[in-house]
Amino acid sequence: MCESSPAGGAAGPLSILALVSGNGTNLQALIDAEKAGLFCTPGGRGALSLVISDRPGVYALERAGAAGIPFLVEAPSPDAPKAGKRQELSDRLLGRARERGIGLIILAGFLSILEGKIVDEYAGRIINLHPALLPKYGGEGMYGSRVHRAVLAAGETESGCTVHLADAGTDTGPILLQRRVPVLDNDTAEILAGRIHREEHIAIVEAAVLMIRRLCGGG
Ligand code: GAR
Repeated sequence: MCESSPAGGAAGPLSILALVSGNGTNLQALIDAEKAGLFCTPGGRGALSLVISDRPGVYALERAGAAGIPFLVEAPSPDAPKAGKRQELSDRLLGRARERGIGLIILAGFLSILEGKIVDEYAGRIINLHPALLPKYGGEGMYGSRVHRAVLAAGETESGCTVHLADAGTDTGPILLQRRVPVLDNDTAEILAGRIHREEHIAIVEAAVLMIRRLCGGG
């Protein structure tokens, strides 16, 4: 049933846009999962059809290119007024998503914050990956190694990752799934990040499959 259409949608697979900002190991996990057939669900298939980075020159774009997925850079505009920067970038991304008939947006290590129309228009169809057990250690300024440093400084014995639906807040939408790891005595932020990264690669794929099933109507 891999070639069936998303429920109620136009012919063809559910088009997925991945937004990235860096190395793209989570993007790679998604690419590998699609290649392995995991995005084929009883109701329809998901397909990575566009990758957009908010930074030029990041390795994630090379991964997209090597996999034959079209990619673009949409960086925050240096001309937009500071207060409107997020909105301006979000609207540009919305334009790209509409243009390509995107049905699902995956923030796979994306460090800009989306706001405005894209969040409304894609409500229930944007998922975000965060390197901590939300609602702890999320929100403005909590990304990458800052999160792990805060977890260590607080003396937590457990951390992990979360995939959630994006809403108008920062790291606040309904949680789809979490994976947990222990925090060990001699952990540095880098060691903890590496342990969490391995779980993220599983979580992002599980969440993508869950969303493809949901949006393609296959249960
Ligand atoms: C991941 O750890 C992801 O959770 C984090 O950026 C990293 C990207 O790694 N995202 C955030 O901190 C968003 N708040 P990757 O480029 O190797 O996929």
